This record gives sequence, C-alpha cells and structure tokens, in this order.
Amino acid sequence: MGQSTGMTATIQKVLVAMSRRGAAAEGTRKLRQMVVGGAKLARNPAGLVKTLGEMSRIEELQAQEASTWLTPDALAQGEAGRFDSVDLRNWLVLAERAGVAAVPARPVLSLTEPELGSLLGDIDLHAHPRTARAADRISSALSSMPTAEVEAADPVDPADVYERCLSAMDDVPNGWMIRSHVCGSGDLKALACCGVAQDEAPEVRFSSDLEVGPGWVREGNRRRITFEDERTLNLYMHDTSVPLTFLARPWVRASHWYDASDPHREGTPLDVPGRWPAEWRAFVAGGKVTGVSIYYPHVDADDTRSIIAALEVRKLAQRIVDQAIADRQQARMMELAFLRSDPKKSALLDAAGMGDDDFACTLDFIETDDGIKLLEGGPPCSPFGGGHPCAFMGVTEFREIDGEEVEVISTEGIALHNGSGFAMRTPYGHDDVDAKIIGWDEAEARVEA
Ligand SMILES: Nc1ncnc2c1ncn2[C@@H]1O[C@H](COP(=O)(O)OP(=O)(O)O)[C@@H](O)[C@H]1O
Ligand SMILES: [Mg+2]
Repeated sequence: MGQSTGMTATIQKVLVAMSRRGAAAEGTRKLRQMVVGGAKLARNPAGLVKTLGEMSRIEELQAQEASTWLTPDALAQGEAGRFDSVDLRNWLVLAERAGVAAVPARPVLSLTEPELGSLLGDIDLHAHPRTARAADRISSALSSMPTAEVEAADPVDPADVYERCLSAMDDVPNGWMIRSHVCGSGDLKALACCGVAQDEAPEVRFSSDLEVGPGWVREGNRRRITFEDERTLNLYMHDTSVPLTFLARPWVRASHWYDASDPHREGTPLDVPGRWPAEWRAFVAGGKVTGVSIYYPHVDADDTRSIIAALEVRKLAQRIVDQAIADRQQARMMELAFLRSDPKKSALLDAAGMGDDDFACTLDFIETDDGIKLLEGGPPCSPFGGGHPCAFMGVTEFREIDGEEVEVISTEGIALHNGSGFAMRTPYGHDDVDAKIIGWDEAEARVEA
C-alpha cells in the first residue's frame, strides 16, 4: 500500500467531510437562488404563467420520453425498444445477454418519490428572512392564478420508510458497497477517487457513533442507506416515474494500480502520492466503440499491459453494443432527447453518431483478478455533456455541420494519460491539452512488438 494507515484514514476523512460540506452548501445556494428567482418572476404575473407553462411542458416531455423506456426485466426478455442509459440495472442486463462479465448488483431497497420526500422533509423557507419574503411573494402571486386539481397521494409514514432504510442493510455483508440505480453517492466518489489503494470497501470512522461507507452510514449501532445524497437526488430527478432503487455490490479488488499524484490536491497538505485502480471507459457512437480511455486521466497508462487491457475493453464494449443492436435495444438520455427539438443541436448530435437511431453510450470497466468486468454504463460523451471524456479532455476535432465548422470533442483511439493538470471535476475544453493518445493500429503494433 502506498501510505501508512494513519495518513490513509486522514485523507479519506477530510475528503468525505469536504464533499459532504460542499454538497450541503451547494444545495442551500441553489435553493436560495430558486426561491429568490421565483419571487422576481412573481412580480410579473404574465412571466410567472409562462414559466409555469414551460415547466409543465418539460414535465410532460419528460414523462413522454420516460414512457417509451423499457424496464430492466423487459430488456432481459429481449424486448426491442429504448432504455434509460443512466440506469445501472439496464447495463447489467445487456452485459449478461452479451456474455460479458460485470460486477453484480442486487436491489435492496426501492423508494417512490413520495417516500423519498417524506424522508427529506419540507424545507422551512421562513427560516431565513430573504427566502421568507420571496416565498410569501410567490404564494400570493400563485393564489391569484387558476391551478389544476392535485390528486391526493397515499399518506406515507416517514418512520416506516426510515426503518426500511435501516433494515435494507441487514443482509448486506460487511465490505459491500451501496449505490442507486442512477449513480454512486458523493461519499463513494470521495472515497473511491482519493487514490487510497484498498482491497476492501473504503469506510471512514468519524467517531464511535458515526461511520461512513460507500452508500451507507452508521449512526449508533445500525447501518442505513444514505438516501439523502445530493448527487443521487439530482440525477434521480430526471425520471421520477420509477422508484429510486438502491443496489448492493461486492467490493471488487482491482488487479492493477497506478501510482500518481492527484492534481486536485497539489500544494495542499494532502498532496501525497496515491494509487488509482485500473479502470477504463469505452466511448460508443454510431454503434461503434470509437475510443477507450483510462478513467483517471492524471495517471500514466502508457505501457503495454495497459494497452492490452484497453484493447480488451474495446472488444468487450463492442460485444455489449452489438448484442443490444441485434436486439434493437437503444440507450437514451433524457437531456439529449430534449435537445433534439432544436434542429441545430439535432444536426450536431446526428453528425456525432448520437442521433435518434444511433447506439451511443459510455461503458466503464475495471481490471480484476477474474478479468475485466463491466462496472457501469452511461450516456454518451456528447457535444452537450453526458459522459465525461476522461483522458480525451480538451482533445477536439472540427466537423462541418450545415456548412459551419464546429469544434467537437474527439474520442478516437486510446487515451492513456492527460496531464493538463485538470482532472475529473474540471470543465474540459482548455487550450493546454497534454493528452497521450494512440491510434488502434499503433496499439495493436505495440502489443505485438
Ligand atoms: N463494487 C465496487 N468495487 C470496487 N470499486 C467500486 C465499486 N463500485 C464503485 N467503485 C468505485 O467507485 C467509483 C464510482 O462508482 P460508480 O458505480 O461508477 O458510480 P458513479 O455513477 O458515481 O460513477 C468507480 O469508478 C470505482 O472506482
Ligand atoms: Mg462511474
């Protein structure tokens, strides 16, 4: 292991605490912005009506798109149709149908939107004078407007729901991790991305009464699911027509690690070398794997062993995609589906191989003792966001769209390193790109040499 246990524990503790504080501050800031923005609108009733109209139109579009998505069970039956590229369960089904090994996941808890709401509770807007004034202005504007009948929902007992969050952990073995069907928790990201090489699931003990693990927390003597995770809640909002489902997964031991320093920690007291697991992202557009990147761009994967793994990832990813295409199953992403109402954006998506009839996505793998396994899939790395470009960050090409030259991100070949000093959380598109990228032929030649 790269560090002493003491330093390891300290780094994890600080990163988890920082990520939690960051998420809380961001949530408060967004809420204030929303309420204050709403109050400004409320001064202008016509504007408020228009905005509410737009909101319900978006909701309608969202429901319409989601209604076309197949469930994981339907996909498993080989039904043809669209599915949500954000849902881990769909990718596990696709991998299984394609005969590609994946890290397994078992559902342990499902919460409907009202159940989740009952746990999170109402936010007291009157706790702060500024939001209180804004909230009052909004409600008086709304009271003068016609509103639709709201269906009475079944009453939910938050105590029951909370108990389910506790008991869901009863059968989860020690050392397993929890994530939702849409993504991993902020805690998991902080724990997994901090460069502390571990064979077991990372857990941080803050006190004898408080322990944080990936996707769960122990307060007192029982573990419970971290339902309040900001990252998960944000991503879940894109489709609340299905319950938020939490899945338990065994923690898999990576078989290959890279020593490196995290550019995020440069110049800080936590700037000690770390080790990152060998994970790879395959980029799929137009039904083909266009590129494969090392997942942690700051590590240097420019060696034969890594190139062999990247070529294998290309094969495994293509196998999953080919099977899905043969089954006429298509990955969708809510935000990209909306963009298609704009002809210019639609044309750019078509040119990128991310059109309505294309199969496009990202697929993430991890090197393990039992070979390379699928970790998860996600939306494509599109010109309008979606999957992160990893070490293809800042690597662009020009495409001609309707007679116009447009600069788009390029994900061709194998990206082995990106030393530009900006990493996973930093926006891409910088000028000082320092990426190590090799073509497929060069990769094959280097492996044969
Ligand atoms: N079961 C697992 N075993 C080992 N590492 C894992 C496991 N699950 C997640 N990780 C680590 O945590 C990271 C984030 O988890 P992931 O499931 O990909 O969620 P997210 O949607 O947040 O990217 C992964 O890239 C990997 O490093
Ligand atoms: Mg991931």
